Amino acid sequence: MDDSGEFAELQPGLTNGELVRGLWEQGKQTTTGICLCAGIMGIMLGGGHGYMQGRYGLVTDQILEARVVLADGSWVTASPRENTDLFWALRGAGHNFGIITGVKFKVYDRLEEWSEVQMIFSEDKLEAVFQLSNDYIEEANHPPELTVWHLLARMDDLSDDAVVVMSLIYRGRFNDLEPYVAPFRDIGPLAEQQHDGVPFVDLFDINVLTEASTTCDRGLYRHLAPTYLRQYNSTSLRKVYDIFNGITAKYPEMGTHSTFMIEGYPIQGVTSIHPEDTAAPFRDYPLLLSPQLGYTNPAHSNDILAANKDMRRAIVEGSGSEQLNAYVNYASGDESLPELYGHEPWRMRKLRELKRKYDPTGKFNFYMPIS
Ligand SMILES: Cc1cc2nc3c(=O)[nH]c(=O)nc-3n(C[C@H](O)[C@H](O)[C@H](O)COP(=O)(O)OP(=O)(O)OC[C@H]3O[C@@H](n4cnc5c(N)ncnc54)[C@H](O)[C@@H]3O)c2cc1C
Ligand SMILES: *[C@@H]1O[C@H](CO)[C@@H](O)[C@H](O)[C@H]1NC(C)=O
Repeated sequence: MDDSGEFAELQPGLTNGELVRGLWEQGKQTTTGICLCAGIMGIMLGGGHGYMQGRYGLVTDQILEARVVLADGSWVTASPRENTDLFWALRGAGHNFGIITGVKFKVYDRLEEWSEVQMIFSEDKLEAVFQLSNDYIEEANHPPELTVWHLLARMDDLSDDAVVVMSLIYRGRFNDLEPYVAPFRDIGPLAEQQHDGVPFVDLFDINVLTEASTTCDRGLYRHLAPTYLRQYNSTSLRKVYDIFNGITAKYPEMGTHSTFMIEGYPIQGVTSIHPEDTAAPFRDYPLLLSPQLGYTNPAHSNDILAANKDMRRAIVEGSGSEQLNAYVNYASGDESLPELYGHEPWRMRKLRELKRKYDPTGKFNFYMPIS
């Protein structure tokens, strides 16, 4: 932590959990990812979504300065004053240009307590839940404090079929969250849980996102297929549900390791940064959807990969656009470069130019390489 208390020094190897807890102990907070076991470097280099983004922007928006070892062996600083083009590229396409050896990262005084409601709905309520959720994802109705998270998941103790899980996660006390909760309660959940006065550092446990959670289990095959969206489409989500329910019924071992994630973080802090100021391309999308299919038996891969693709196809068909916009950090690997780095022709032109400048022989082509 710097003496000013305004930034911290992060180095490779640091996990999200170490960052969240390390800052907390010093009375600080910032945008981090939501799952504690992931590394902060990869999250940061590809953008980085989390609960705090409505206030502070993406994880990558917290970088004040980065030190980078380039392909030619030189060690340089990228910042708003030095190597500004590299500084631009690192924030969104940062897996491509060199080895980040450290960053100065903005941190903030820790403030409010949080509250949350989790509701579980049987599948027949799916349309009602997502139609209502659309009211809260529209920018005018979506306060910067509110994260709206849905999952399709299996919960065998509640239902033989997959269920719809909804969490409203709120930076503030339950009293202020209550008005958003009531209309969902009217739909008739199978189960409901409330939490009030939760310190930020404890949100991860409530949401089963700590290092001990199944999300962090190792030794699994995992497939994602991300799509950014403007609104929920209950017709296409029904198609996704049927595919998810079918594949997880066919391979019961998938049950505890698989979900379909529908992440609705607030975007006010994200859109407050000008879209051309960083390489992070899809700032104004309030929703990020992806299957997350985990299993151990490789004999099932073809089938599960097909389901993965079918789910994304259903989502894109219901998006009102032919174009796929995908989060680079969740990439399945079959996306085109513009689908990951932005469709505006100037973005790929600029990224390719910078790739030629900083990494002409492609030494840093480990992840979604620009070519
Ligand atoms: C369990 C889990 C939870 C997740 N939760 C979130 C979340 O809440 N929010 C979110 O936005 N994303 C999340 N993700 C996605 C995450 O952003 C990516 O998986 C990301 O790549 C993780 O970074 P890492 O450093 O752990 O991975 P690594 O595999 O270590 O790194 C990924 C790539 O980043 C590059 N890289 C890493 N470190 C450096 C460095 N120092 N210098 C240069 N390049 C480097 C390399 O190309 C590497 O191949 C999650 C992923 C998992 C598996
Ligand atoms: C929702 O998706 C279906 C296809 O699944 C499509 O026909 C419909 O137009 C979509 N609705 C909206 C509002 O885009």
